[in-house]
Amino acid sequence: MDDKTLVALANEARTRAYTPYSHWAVGAALLCTDGTIYQGCNIENAAYTPSNCAERTAFFKAISEGQREFAAISIVGGPEGQEAPDFCAPCGVCRQVMREFCDLDDFRIILGRGDGAVKAFSLRELLPESFGPENLA
Ligand code: THU
Repeated sequence: MDDKTLVALANEARTRAYTPYSHWAVGAALLCTDGTIYQGCNIENAAYTPSNCAERTAFFKAISEGQREFAAISIVGGPEGQEAPDFCAPCGVCRQVMREFCDLDDFRIILGRGDGAVKAFSLRELLPESFGPENLA
């Protein structure tokens, strides 16, 4: 699975975002180590706090289906109804969810833009000096 294909799946998921409040539509595509892909979009709520980011939608779909090992996630986000003009980095809460299940150095976070540009990070780059499961072991 190459980065551009995974980004295209995030772009597709983005079209299903439910964003009547922020009008900021995000899509994600999560690649499991067994090759399975789970797509996710952000889902907002009139009470605001129950809203869920695209990345966590994808993770929670995968985890609830029994997946525990992840290779990469692609993310595309921007104003609803138009191509993403810039990269959309994951929020802190989503980074912490990744930290629970993903290797700091091997897991790749791939950001895509509407013009096809792509850039990738390790989880350690986006969440340095982090707190995770082994701290409580
Ligand atoms: N959002 C995501 O889904 N993922 C991100 O990486 C950043 C933010 C959502 C949350 C909310 O529905 C909207 O974008 C604006 O913050």
